[in-house]
Amino acid sequence: MNLTAPFDVTTQHLGGFPKRGVPWAEIEQELKHLKSLDYDGRAGKLPAYMYFHTEKLLEVQKKAYAEYILENGLGTGVAFRSLEIMQHAIFRWAFDLFHAPEGAGATYTAGGSSSVLDALRTARNRVRAERGEAYGIYNVVTPFSAHPCLTKSAQFLDVEVRRTPLGEHRRGDPAAIAAAIDENTIMIYGSAPAYPFGLFDPIERLGELALERNLWFHVDACWGGFLSPFAKKLGYPVPNWDFEVPGVTSISADIHKHGYGVKGASLLLFRDKSVQSYQEFVFHDWHRGSYVTPSLPGSSPGGSIAAAYAVMKYLGEEGYLEIAKATMEGTISWIDGVNTIEGLKCFEPIGESSIFGFYSTDSSLDILAVAEFMQTRGWLPGLNTDPYAIQQAVTAVHGPFVNNYLSDLRDAVDHVRSTNAKGALNARTY
Ligand SMILES: Cc1ncc(COP(=O)(O)O)c(C=O)c1O
Repeated sequence: MNLTAPFDVTTQHLGGFPKRGVPWAEIEQELKHLKSLDYDGRAGKLPAYMYFHTEKLLEVQKKAYAEYILENGLGTGVAFRSLEIMQHAIFRWAFDLFHAPEGAGATYTAGGSSSVLDALRTARNRVRAERGEAYGIYNVVTPFSAHPCLTKSAQFLDVEVRRTPLGEHRRGDPAAIAAAIDENTIMIYGSAPAYPFGLFDPIERLGELALERNLWFHVDACWGGFLSPFAKKLGYPVPNWDFEVPGVTSISADIHKHGYGVKGASLLLFRDKSVQSYQEFVFHDWHRGSYVTPSLPGSSPGGSIAAAYAVMKYLGEEGYLEIAKATMEGTISWIDGVNTIEGLKCFEPIGESSIFGFYSTDSSLDILAVAEFMQTRGWLPGLNTDPYAIQQAVTAVHGPFVNNYLSDLRDAVDHVRSTNAKGALNARTY
């Protein structure tokens, strides 16, 4: 599909490094103009990327972040006792939410990809230490739908990723995973839920497999970690996926997604904190004393920690339930609306998360052409392949805009039918 940038940066006369300073008022205007070139996430035009609930919550996010805008996460517990206290509160709240047993551990990371990188790095370091190997070619076994950040992490770490075919309803298939495991497997990786279809891998079954084979089992709940507990409480059919499930070794859950923190906020949680010794980087061998970091970043935004702490306190369970309700009700009404349009159908089952997708049931209705038309109306379509489908990742912002979307979608379907348009998949939508 033709997703060329809506403007050409070379026409913006960006020039060289500014010689003289420009007044803030001018820069502010320019930022507003630049923002107008983007998809309008506040009007629900984006699948995820942005998480907005209310102006009041935005105010809390901004103020808490701004309060700690100069502080550095690198100095947590050294220079900034306050950041350490807030982090520990966040860890305790997450232990509660995800049924962590006594003795669990946690690390605050920069985002989902960072949490996943560190889960894999910790598992690899442990295996190396236990086997007494300086080097080894290891592998991680996962359903095909695992987020690309797993493969990115594995590239950094020289680990092979074995993506196995999906089973029923496009969930991970435990038999395929079991068959792909060998003596060099260091981790089973499941998603709760996986991003392409919003479905949970069979976490309980994979937990059993991990225990049988004595393997690390990481559950990637980056997307849904802060939605699922609340959606479940509201009665949605969310399967068990967290530390309640025996065999789950670690969990990644992003605060900067459905946790409504400011970007740069995720958690990596361990059932047993003793494994964190394989994660921590400790260095003394230079002239500036010991340098210790749990994860990849050195300096990191203190504001992210303060905002995460403030948002969790501000919302509480009540607030998160309200957000989950808006998110899930928006999702279901969106799915119901799409299913009323002839020639389109949503994947099933639904209701486990706020991600859904729909495909064409009519060979004369090209779904990629539908996606391209939607783009001309200002909606950034998420795309699935195999089968081609439009994917939506719904947040609390979307509910009020569902009818606008459906109206444009009906126009898109009419247009594609009447012109027999064909779309192409030739640009990034993610
Ligand atoms: C399941 C899953 N894991 C990991 C990630 C990566 O998260 P981030 O973009 O914060 O690095 C995502 C992002 O959507 C995701 O959906």
